[in-house]
Amino acid sequence: MKIGIGNDHSAVDMKNEIVKYLEELGYEVVNYGTDTHESCHYPIYGEKVARAVVAKEVDLGILICGTGVGISLAANKVKGIRAAVCSEPCTARFTRQHNDSNILAFGARIIGIETAKEIVKAWLDAEFEGGRHQTRVDMIMALENE
Ligand code: RB5
Repeated sequence: MKIGIGNDHSAVDMKNEIVKYLEELGYEVVNYGTDTHESCHYPIYGEKVARAVVAKEVDLGILICGTGVGISLAANKVKGIRAAVCSEPCTARFTRQHNDSNILAFGARIIGIETAKEIVKAWLDAEFEGGRHQTRVDMIMALENE
């Protein structure tokens, strides 16, 4: 499985650790940047990863900024994206199982690297359950066409 990853300047170090962790787990990783600590605009990287997910260049995406919020808000503006900000593994698991989230976001200024790894693992190990959850996801996606 291929994972696209993107981040702003506040999350370069955490991104690098997460890339290493994903590769140890056997995932192929595509890095959409940024790779410097120079201040940048998180919507650029949120959009890059979101477009890569929608275009199926990658199967799923991971986004990291200071809080995880700004970069996920940008990603969620791209049609077809369901980006979820998580600060603990339980929400991460449920957001795959129930919301079929296709992007996971978290904040490098909010959580530590060990929690980030637990969140990533919980999210990637979970599967969408479909059924009644599919109906609800369809309702969310229908909002994009209004
Ligand atoms: C950048 O300073 C910061 O605003 C950004 O990383 C993020 O927290 C936005 O939601």
